[in-house]
Amino acid sequence: MFAKVSSLGLFGLNAFNVDVEIDISRGNPQFDIVGLPDAVVRESRERIRSALRACSISFPVASVMVNLAPADTKKSGSVHDMAIFMAILRAMRMIDDIPEGCSFIGEISLNGDIRRINGVLPMVMLAKETGVKSVFVPADNASEASVIDGIDIYAVSTAEELIRHFRGEELMTPCTHYAPPDAAYNEILDFADVRGQQSAKKALEIAAAGGHNALLIGSPGSGKSMLSKRIPSILPPLTFEEALETTKIHSISGLLDPNEPIITKRPFRAPHHTISSAGLAGGGTVPHPGEVSLAHNGVLFLDELAEFDRRTLEILRQPLEDRKVTIARASGTVTYPCTIMLIGAMNPCPCGYFGHPKRKCICPPKKVAGYLSKISGPLLDRFDLHIEVAPVEFEDLSSKAHEEPSSEIRKRVTAAREIQTERFKGTSITCNALISPDKLQEMCPMDDSAEQMLKGVFDRLGLSARAYDRILKVARTIADLDGSEVIHRPHIAAAAQYRSLDRKYWSDGSTQLNV
Ligand SMILES: Nc1ncnc2c1ncn2[C@@H]1O[C@H](COP(=O)(O)OP(=O)(O)OP(=O)(O)O)[C@@H](O)[C@H]1O
Ligand SMILES: [Mg+2]
Repeated sequence: MFAKVSSLGLFGLNAFNVDVEIDISRGNPQFDIVGLPDAVVRESRERIRSALRACSISFPVASVMVNLAPADTKKSGSVHDMAIFMAILRAMRMIDDIPEGCSFIGEISLNGDIRRINGVLPMVMLAKETGVKSVFVPADNASEASVIDGIDIYAVSTAEELIRHFRGEELMTPCTHYAPPDAAYNEILDFADVRGQQSAKKALEIAAAGGHNALLIGSPGSGKSMLSKRIPSILPPLTFEEALETTKIHSISGLLDPNEPIITKRPFRAPHHTISSAGLAGGGTVPHPGEVSLAHNGVLFLDELAEFDRRTLEILRQPLEDRKVTIARASGTVTYPCTIMLIGAMNPCPCGYFGHPKRKCICPPKKVAGYLSKISGPLLDRFDLHIEVAPVEFEDLSSKAHEEPSSEIRKRVTAAREIQTERFKGTSITCNALISPDKLQEMCPMDDSAEQMLKGVFDRLGLSARAYDRILKVARTIADLDGSEVIHRPHIAAAAQYRSLDRKYWSDGSTQLNV
């Protein structure tokens, strides 16, 4: 007896259709699965046997052969359990014919309960694209699946429920479509809590407006971590497309909150400095996304930057330029997007007081140089804005003055982003930080005086080509915040000033500087 049931699979972010074919024939009792299954898929035999028993159905005393087509694509995980279970029931004629256009994804537990799986969102998106009409998913994944409109999602809690539905005894009803709420913000972390620090706040506003990377450097307790954690509160709201892209990455990592099936807040990922390279950039046998991809469309915050393993940090160099991470494994190549704002925070030396206006640094010069050299020249070059966070003044801390809330700063940032959206219409560029070198001249027109100033800065400081590009892009953002289409001299001056910190701290030749 033969039966065929549809399922879906996933490799990285790429979903694909899977046909579960089953043949039950006379012969030695056995249960085989072919079609490049991994160990977890093979173990589904035991789960299914037990689940059938839990439903009071005896496993056929026959040769049971399951093929997962296409046979040349690796199948991994427990996602096909439900489809194999249905195929066996159909081949045994224990249920009615399964209508065309039904697909099944979910893990079965030994007692017949259906358990949640990872990556439901990209699989359901593919199902819709390829004309599947109904997808049966674990009840715990149902809200995530019903974010996709125009396809019927059935939430399944137990194998019994499925059997009753396909015997026509008790029909399940499709879930209602989950209408995503508007983009949201963390209401607790607001810039209004940060007293003083006007210049650091202004710099972060520029970074947010253009999507630029920023490095904050300053003494302990100056507020670097406090400021950084508030950056998402001034970023423009996530668009639906951005929210879907980010949610897909969190879905395959199993990080989605069932109560929040679509991510509406820009991610803020702050991994600890002991993180491994695979944890930061992604990796594993079936490559999983790293922190840099989990932060897609949001902020990757590396606090205590100099404490990270130097080799781990260097891995970020390519993804920061390409906005994607490609991981090659014997099982295939996976690409994860990572359009992020990288925010780094660090002390200038081990004791933390090098360059402090009032306290004396107790570190020997060699130690300071060694500490700073943990950030390589090329990595430093990728931070568009270098921000010195000065110690907070007592007057600021004790002042009763009202600080500007994040919502006000966000208005200016959003207005600058709207100018950028208009400018980049019809291209894949979304913000100034992403302007490609070939578009730089066209998108960043300067007046003569600004051009002269940039030439002066370039010659005097011996800028690298990358530093030149980045100063121009930051100047573009400053001009946008100013409402100016043409970049003027003060915009270039302000942008160049944000590249001055490396000369203050990294100027002893211990690291190769580009500014
Ligand atoms: N500008 C400020 N306004 C109000 N409180 C502040 C300000 N700066 C610092 N603080 C207070 O000091 C605490 C420490 O700040 P934070 O952790 O951001 O310092 P840091 O620069 O990251 O220090 P470290 O280098 O030790 O990591 C904050 O939690 C906050 O309570
Ligand atoms: Mg800190």
